[in-house]
Amino acid sequence: MSDKSKVRLMPLFLYAAGVLLVGGVIFYFSSPLDKAGLGISLQHKDRAVVDAGKATYAENCASCHGVVLEGQANWRQRDAEGYLPAPPHDESGHTWHHPDSYLFLMTKYGIEEMIGKSYPNNMPVFEDKLTDDEIIAALSYIKSTWSGRIQLKHDQINARAKAH
Ligand code: HEC
Repeated sequence: MSDKSKVRLMPLFLYAAGVLLVGGVIFYFSSPLDKAGLGISLQHKDRAVVDAGKATYAENCASCHGVVLEGQANWRQRDAEGYLPAPPHDESGHTWHHPDSYLFLMTKYGIEEMIGKSYPNNMPVFEDKLTDDEIIAALSYIKSTWSGRIQLKHDQINARAKAH
């Protein structure tokens, strides 16, 4: 390689080094929670996972979110104490608006941990009650009940979330 072409390639090397550096800094400063959610993928097409998740859901989630995922009555309105009722996990709710990672982290660590501030709410933290696989299974079961159209939309939301 001539000296001239080496000089011409220099800005490219600097650019590449810069991209790596910026990427590294963003990764370093992103919260551990964001990283924990990176590898999460719901398995709504895996029969065994969905069946296990159905049982986990019935035992741990149905009392609030409903036996058929219908949520609690008037779920958009805060009660007398200022708490929101449990929203439905069927298509009428907004569960499907959130990517896999968010749903997983929220169920595992709770809403306050996710939004990083105090927010009194009635959604339990499942970190000490369910394993990661059980949480993924319960959420996979939830997704398996959505129509093909909503599942597809949710896949697109996931793709967008992963591209960030
Ligand atoms: C004791 C009642 C209760 C139980 C049990 C419960 N939840 Fe919740 N959940 C709530 C409430 C209440 C909210 C809404 C909290 C708020 O926004 O103030 C919520 C919110 C959520 C959300 C956020 C939905 C959205 O659209 O933002 C997810 C996801 C969720 N719950 C998953 C689960 C899963 C999975 C289980 C079982 C493993 C479960 N919940 C068990 C009460 C419950």
